[in-house]
Amino acid sequence: MIVIEGLRVVYRDVISVLHGVSVTLEDGQITTLLGANGAGKTTLLRTLSGVLRIYDGDVLEGSVKIEGQEVTRINPVKIARKFGIVYIVEERTVFPQLNVMENLKCAASSRRDKDVARDMDRVLALFPALKTRLHGKSGYMSGGEQQMLSIGNALMTKPKTMLLDEPSLGLAPILVREMFKILIRINEEEGIAMFLVEQNATAAMKVAHKGYVMENGRVVLEGTREELESNEDIREFYLGSGGEGKEKDYRQSKRYKRRKRWLG
Ligand SMILES: Nc1ncnc2c1ncn2[C@@H]1O[C@H](COP(=O)(O)OP(=O)(O)OP(=O)(O)O)[C@@H](O)[C@H]1O
Ligand SMILES: [Mg+2]
Repeated sequence: MIVIEGLRVVYRDVISVLHGVSVTLEDGQITTLLGANGAGKTTLLRTLSGVLRIYDGDVLEGSVKIEGQEVTRINPVKIARKFGIVYIVEERTVFPQLNVMENLKCAASSRRDKDVARDMDRVLALFPALKTRLHGKSGYMSGGEQQMLSIGNALMTKPKTMLLDEPSLGLAPILVREMFKILIRINEEEGIAMFLVEQNATAAMKVAHKGYVMENGRVVLEGTREELESNEDIREFYLGSGGEGKEKDYRQSKRYKRRKRWLG
């Protein structure tokens, strides 16, 4: 279990971003985190994974405990190794010069067990699309294929918990559905817990056991999937019944960011 309590986070000593956030992630469950651009979702993942310092961020107050142990200021490599936390950042992280098999092998390089080959087969079975691209450089694969491979790379570390920052970003609708189906399989078959940050609220709510909604650095709503799905505000602002305009705006701004990344 991961327990985040009263987290206050700033960047560059002055930019206050999280104002007392508390979140609990149960073992083996999918928890989704929804919220508009700039709410602080990525910052929460950075804090939990221990990479916040790299972004010149700091925890002023509160704590992150994994399996009862305080990890708030421990370095990311230790958090990953000791607790099996893997953080799949928003920017697809494949080794672009390497092909699919080489990527998966590299991702497993710190493992000492004998199951690496078996797990590579397992990843390819989960993501059949990758099988057709085994030999080319992964940097030339499509965005969707790279996203699949970055999740595959994460799986090769044999994680207990996956932190996923907007995995559906920029994917075509059919691929979004495919990816969420695969996430459910990974959760159910491997028992891997997930903390799933998403703008795609409808899809995320379908797969999650419970969820949180953040606004301006605070959790404003939390509950089980059933509780959130029946909440009027959630329905209006996130599930598109009457609030479609707003959801569209998020998407458009995301696309814009993504486009910028491609061009830059
Ligand atoms: N390294 C940084 N230095 C300074 N400010 C930052 C830094 N990273 C993020 N911020 C600011 O912190 C706030 C929260 O950002 P964060 O990326 O956590 O939000 P988010 O909910 O993930 O948003 P999005 O949906 O756009 O990804 C934003 O106002 C952002 O500008
Ligand atoms: Mg973000």
